[in-house]
Amino acid sequence: MTGGRKPEPPPLPDCLHVREVMALGAARLDPEIVAYFAAGAGDEETLSDNEAAFTRRALRPRVLTDVAGLSTASTVLGHPVVMPVGVAPTAEHGLAHPEAERASALAAAAAGVPFCLSTAATLSLEEVAEVAGSPRWLQLYASARRADTEQLVARAVGAGFEAIVLTVDVGIVGLRDRERAARRANPDHPYYRGRRYLTPGHDVTASGFPATWQDLAWLREACDGRPLVLKGVMTGEDAARAIDHGVAAVWVSNHGGRQLDRAPATLDVLEEVVSAVGGRAEVYLDGGVRRGVDVACALALGARCVFVGRPVVFGLAAGGREGVAAVLGMLRRELHVTMALLGAASVEELTPASVRRR
Ligand code: FNR
Ligand code: LAC
Repeated sequence: MTGGRKPEPPPLPDCLHVREVMALGAARLDPEIVAYFAAGAGDEETLSDNEAAFTRRALRPRVLTDVAGLSTASTVLGHPVVMPVGVAPTAEHGLAHPEAERASALAAAAAGVPFCLSTAATLSLEEVAEVAGSPRWLQLYASARRADTEQLVARAVGAGFEAIVLTVDVGIVGLRDRERAARRANPDHPYYRGRRYLTPGHDVTASGFPATWQDLAWLREACDGRPLVLKGVMTGEDAARAIDHGVAAVWVSNHGGRQLDRAPATLDVLEEVVSAVGGRAEVYLDGGVRRGVDVACALALGARCVFVGRPVVFGLAAGGREGVAAVLGMLRRELHVTMALLGAASVEELTPASVRRR
């Protein structure tokens, strides 16, 4: 390399894997937006550990099995999916592409995978509902006023969202220093308008979405029979408590390393959570999934479905709907090949025996 310049990422049709699409997307965005999408909290230990945890596992291939009719299909909360890899809720897709969530929802629908819309989306949930397929879920940040939350949930139910995903790890917003450094370097970038939590001197304790276990009975009521999912559970204790509160699924997540730095990697707590849940609810995982081998590993260790966040936002930036389709297509192809080489003809055949510590 000369002059310390990064090599140009290949154009979308030539990208071979998810990280290449992400690099292409990042190259197309202002550095301020990249900092928002990419940042983790603090020293980003949890952010990097999410990906590193997958490399601490090896996959155990079984040979001479008949995988001719291999299928990546599964179900989540009773709804069929082409593969158990979904779009995690991420805020403001409009920062990545003018078609915003319309593009990401269309790509998820075409791929036959779950799409979870963020409370903090660019488009309204009704606009997204027009194009979203199934499964479609709404992620919820509870408002300070219960009536506002009830109204939002009622709108989601009316628009055909099939589950409500309450995010429980943003009681207070994490300190994302990479994002704050980008603001310091260019405070006048339009992205920073109205982002009070990034303003120096802002009372950080005043930003966030606090809720408690006491809110869950009311929220389940508000969901009017739609399943409630808790996103951001990181311990067996909380997973068991969530089951006692009647949730349909527990979503293992550390918010992509954006909240509590030094929280463990999600893969490292998956087995603890799966064992605490004991089959009484579905378990999902997100954080650092970039390859089909990552998907296979998490499914083998008990996740019913995994979700991707940054691959989708950077995929959007790389090519709108096509960029997200590329990401999902790569994960599907890689999962297929991984399962075939592991000797697993169906996702049920991925079990803890498929994985070992390195
Ligand atoms: C998020 N995430 C998130 N989660 C949520 O429940 N509501 C939200 O609005 C957002 N917004 C958001 C924005 C951006 C830019 C990122 C990167 C993440 C967290 C997200 O759902 C998911 O937990 C992580 O992104 C998963 O990690 P990976 O796949 O990005 O490594
Ligand atoms: C984030 C919030 C919106 O992680 O969830 O940026």
